[in-house]
Amino acid sequence: MSRRPSLRALCGVALLLACTACSDDGSSDKTPKGRAGSAGVGDPLFPTLGNGGYDVTHYGLTLDYGPGTRRLKATADITARATATLRSFNLDLAGLDVREASVDGRDATFTRRGTELTITPKSPLAKGRIFKATIRYDGAPKTITDPDDSIEGWVPTDDGAVGLGEPTGSMAWFPGNHHPSDKAAYDISVTLPNNGKTAVSNGVLESREETGDRRTFKWHSREPMASYLATVAIGDFEVTDTTTDGGVPEYDAVDHDELDGSSKITADVSEVLDWQSKTFGPYPFASTGVIVDRNPDLGYALETQTRPYFDSAPDTLLLVHEFAHQWFGNSVTPRSWKDIWLNEGFATYAEWLWQEQHDGRDADQIFRGLWTGKDRAATGIWDFPPAAPPNAARLLDAPVYQRGAMVLHKVRRAVGDDTFFDILRTWAKTHRHGNADTEQFIALCEKKSGKDLGPLFDTWLYGKGKPAKP
Ligand code: TRP
Ligand code: ZN
Repeated sequence: MSRRPSLRALCGVALLLACTACSDDGSSDKTPKGRAGSAGVGDPLFPTLGNGGYDVTHYGLTLDYGPGTRRLKATADITARATATLRSFNLDLAGLDVREASVDGRDATFTRRGTELTITPKSPLAKGRIFKATIRYDGAPKTITDPDDSIEGWVPTDDGAVGLGEPTGSMAWFPGNHHPSDKAAYDISVTLPNNGKTAVSNGVLESREETGDRRTFKWHSREPMASYLATVAIGDFEVTDTTTDGGVPEYDAVDHDELDGSSKITADVSEVLDWQSKTFGPYPFASTGVIVDRNPDLGYALETQTRPYFDSAPDTLLLVHEFAHQWFGNSVTPRSWKDIWLNEGFATYAEWLWQEQHDGRDADQIFRGLWTGKDRAATGIWDFPPAAPPNAARLLDAPVYQRGAMVLHKVRRAVGDDTFFDILRTWAKTHRHGNADTEQFIALCEKKSGKDLGPLFDTWLYGKGKPAKP
């Protein structure tokens, strides 16, 4: 956690600069000087993550990667709307060399400090203006080690590499507004040497072109995506391009070394997605699939949008978990990282529901095993309240997953099955492709049930330690 004090210090400096550079946006001055966009959006767990003063609508990433050299040469075209009159604005970028920056085709100056890349256009951007920032950059993208010791960012593998972004790793491979509150559409183009390797990303594969010794894959994500859910996986993949039984285009990429454990995966994806569409409401995206890699040092899977990433062949419950995130986390995205239980509690509860409906333990039994501590997954679940991870190192910890699911089970038992499943579907529908927070979820539960659920949430979601009774 040595990086926290320095992040805070950096944030303080940036806020100070923002204030001293301030000019009144509403003044009669015909050419407002504008102000500096802030170096953070106020996330309590990640103070400098994301940036204020603009809202990204589209990322166009053009990436050229050499799996042999591990070098990236790239251009990011970022289309955004200024939400204040901006003299300058920040992007988050970790490592890499920035070669050139422009705004609407005119050269812009830039400076770097830590993970903040500050762009100053030739003239200020008026509030409301839609602009395109173009950043040319290159270098060997780095693997980030998080406060919890897990790795993310750019992770090389035996046969390629993968870009992973939860919670902050996307800044290791492209500059952006890397906070979940700023979702955008994406076009990601990846060029590789023409030696049989495949580049897989989110959304729909629009084209695959070969020109001499190069091969280019163009991926399109129409629906808004939080940057931590963007991915590119490069490797020797077996591709299955098909359609689920429910009619969703499905593109699966399985590492040649993981084919044995993945023989049923295409059918399993279809079955899981169908079950979830019935349980949670319509699947929110235009395509689906999986990326099954061999990445033995990773130790986790990630719900990358439309196409979850697995570090090895997954079992069915892990598929259920990562696909549940497509509704809970990806389509409905937390407004702040402290709301992460809205992702993990829900995806974990989806596993309980799957087991209950597929000849496994029922949800009461799973709840009981956690309560008594007999279940291995119970380790550490009372360490902190699920709605209040104490620091970045505990963001993806047991209370958020297991006790988060226990909160949902308590709600289900308090309101009854009909209301509970109505709540899940209404949550997914109301906030589809948006951001939402814990207070909104509580309000929805109380509205749908007509009950005061304050004590339940106070005890199970916000209360310290193990509740007095199950
Ligand atoms: N969000 C992922 C999931 O639940 C898991 C995950 C991503 C994770 N990054 C992590 C778990 C880092 C522990 C540490 O599927
Ligand atoms: Zn999860």
